[in-house]
Amino acid sequence: MEIIHVAAECYPVAKAGGLGDVVGALPKYQADLGHVTKVVMPMYRTKFLYNHQWELVHEGEQFLGSQSFHYAVIKEKTNTLGFDLYLVDINGLLDREKIYGYNDDTERFMAFQIAVCDWMNKWQHKPSVVHCHDHHTGLIPFMMQHCFAFRDKLARIPTVFTVHNAQYQGWMGWDKNHYIPYYDTWKTGLLEWDKNINPLASAIKCAWKVTTVSHSYLDELKQEANGLQHLFEYEKGKSYGILNGIDTQVWDPHTDSMIVKNYGSELVEKGKWKNKKELAGQFGLDPNKPLVSFIGRLVGEKAADLLPEAISQSIYQHHGNVNFLVLGSGDPNVEDRLDNMKHHFSGYYNSFIGYSEQLSHLIYAGSDFLLMPSRVEPCGLNQLYALRYGTVPMVRNVGGLRDTVTDMGDPQGFGIRFDQASVNDITYSVGRAIDLYNNKHELYHWMRSHMMEIDHSWEGSAQQYIDLYISLQ
Ligand code: ADP
Ligand code: GLC
Repeated sequence: MEIIHVAAECYPVAKAGGLGDVVGALPKYQADLGHVTKVVMPMYRTKFLYNHQWELVHEGEQFLGSQSFHYAVIKEKTNTLGFDLYLVDINGLLDREKIYGYNDDTERFMAFQIAVCDWMNKWQHKPSVVHCHDHHTGLIPFMMQHCFAFRDKLARIPTVFTVHNAQYQGWMGWDKNHYIPYYDTWKTGLLEWDKNINPLASAIKCAWKVTTVSHSYLDELKQEANGLQHLFEYEKGKSYGILNGIDTQVWDPHTDSMIVKNYGSELVEKGKWKNKKELAGQFGLDPNKPLVSFIGRLVGEKAADLLPEAISQSIYQHHGNVNFLVLGSGDPNVEDRLDNMKHHFSGYYNSFIGYSEQLSHLIYAGSDFLLMPSRVEPCGLNQLYALRYGTVPMVRNVGGLRDTVTDMGDPQGFGIRFDQASVNDITYSVGRAIDLYNNKHELYHWMRSHMMEIDHSWEGSAQQYIDLYISLQ
């Protein structure tokens, strides 16, 4: 099969969160299963671009409304990532350092999608499937099927759309309609939701199959999906939950070059201790106390706004018998509060406000517990990395967290689960963590080595996607 993944992120080329991890790993595992796998993404100006060799494979002209634009497609020469990587360059729109966060993101991703369709339209052959990820690529299924310029050639190519996060939908007003290449106006219903053009809704309507990144999230979306719940209910017949995996080559405490001491499930105590001492040294914490860490985007979905109070309450209520470390960036207000607290709770709490891939690895390895109080969590990869590094996940009972973490109160349970995204539930769970760390050595030891052996690698899920593509041929 020839599989084309189209996405805004792909690790290590450009990553803002879990979408990048998935698009950097799933295609590699599909290639290992014997398929031709290609990733197509915007050519941002990231380090990866300058450190690799490229060849020009295509150039074209298209229109964004009445403005014409030139685009170029380049291919990474040596296949370093284990799949074919193509970058689409559009000067003035995609030639930026960051992935998102610009005022013209709508125009940037619209032009990207038009360029991708135009390029595929020029191919001599048809790929087996086009697999799009999240709203930045959500108009591609519509464009392939209904835009006059593309539909003759592209309409019969199967499309799969994966919802990594339904909170972000890419809405735009109808004044942007002229950006979309010409189509029959009676098809406008396929673009619309709640009086706007909604790329996520359009993808759910037009893609041949829709997937979400965990089973529980698929169920939850029918109840609450930032306004799209009825659509998810309506399209449930073509929707599937396929749990994300992790790239066990990148996330492996045996070989990880970003941590100070490598270890496996046999040497977990010693290995984690060395990494913890390094973290404690860097952040002025006490390595003898249990360390609870948080890594992630500081946004409402992750319940990051609760962290300042939950951390201070936990330190007071548990008499300073616990340490906290936060790595994240996002909402400036939450960033400020988490940063200012450092002085007040010096020796008990510290944070790094920003993005650091390297530090994230050290935190997964050196922490005792990883806190994820998410309000919404489609899958969550952090808890899977935590499991692999022998760090006990403390998670809210939601989405992919519910599907991957069982509570230590259950027979064979290996995590700490709580029901509410609230300061009380977090503080109570911190108490359970401290008790486990100080008083239940046997259980703690068993949990750590057991969870490191759990197989969350991509092999199984990559095959589930292949089976889905096969059903469309
Ligand atoms: P989401 O995609 O919603 O942000 P996931 O749990 O799927 O959540 O994935 C988050 C990914 O981003 C993980 O690889 C995590 O380690 C990484 N990450 C998030 N914030 C940071 C940060 N500030 N620095 C480094 N890595 C981060
Ligand atoms: C999204 C979700 C996260 C998921 C990731 C990869 O960003 O918020 O839960 O793990 O995509 O699918």
